[in-house]
Amino acid sequence: MGALKGRVAIVTGAGRGIGKATALRLAREGIKVVAGDIDENAVMELQKEAEQEGLEILGLKMDVSSSEDVERVVSKTIERFGGIDILVNNAGICEEVEVENMTEKQWDRLMSINLKGTFLCSRAVIPYMKQKNYGKIVNLSSISAETGGVLSGAHYAASKAGIKAFTKKLSRELGPYNINVNSVAPGRILTEMIKPAGERNKKVEQELPLQRLGEPEEVAEVILFLVSKASDYLTGQCIHVNGGWYMN
Ligand SMILES: NC(=O)c1ccc[n+]([C@@H]2O[C@H](COP(=O)([O-])OP(=O)(O)OC[C@H]3O[C@@H](n4cnc5c(N)ncnc54)[C@H](O)[C@@H]3O)[C@@H](O)[C@H]2O)c1
Repeated sequence: MGALKGRVAIVTGAGRGIGKATALRLAREGIKVVAGDIDENAVMELQKEAEQEGLEILGLKMDVSSSEDVERVVSKTIERFGGIDILVNNAGICEEVEVENMTEKQWDRLMSINLKGTFLCSRAVIPYMKQKNYGKIVNLSSISAETGGVLSGAHYAASKAGIKAFTKKLSRELGPYNINVNSVAPGRILTEMIKPAGERNKKVEQELPLQRLGEPEEVAEVILFLVSKASDYLTGQCIHVNGGWYMN
């Protein structure tokens, strides 16, 4: 994947989990990575970790639900690296609450991070990608967009289904500019996000054809494929990374 060397990527929610694994995986291909996260300490730690490995990762505090934050991160990326080639809309939150007990505040908060955040970050990078007539955008959907989800509330499933549809429409808008837009739908991946499920995670393992939960690095490999030349003729698609749990 040598063609990726020198490209510039923004990965949101890169402080831990799938985002962190993705930032490191892309940086190991020679990509200059801006790692944004609401948890500033986490991305500053990641920046240090990367420096020790000789990788270029710039950690920046960022709340994806704030257009000011998003614009600031994009400006800093341009200032530091001179362009943007890749965006991974990974930041997201999940909570388990039934609709009957869900407050408006819970609905709005989750939607503004998961769905509006994906919109805000995409909107902010489009002019820079169009300038280059090149771009790769990868959005994190979820198996819950297909199944309704088990650990998550209906607001989470709706946000992830929204991301999938957003991906399809954006791929139509940006295809003429040689910008690919795809989504990845993980099943159950071993990160902090699924920790609250505790013992229930063990039960899921038995249902999976591959008989185990996924590692964040295994999702990062698929994201790498989607930002590489190997997927140049792929756009508007959703790739399921779920150990065979749900088959499309
Ligand atoms: N882990 C899974 O099983 C799974 C399954 C399906 C989809 N996903 C999706 O993959 C993505 C990453 O999930 P994960 O498991 O690594 O989660 P995680 O909770 O381990 O990490 C999420 C990261 O996003 C950051 N974040 C939260 N709110 C933010 C905001 N407003 N602005 C910027 N950063 C913010 C957090 O600080 C954290 O570092 C999410 O979009 C999630 O919905 C995960």
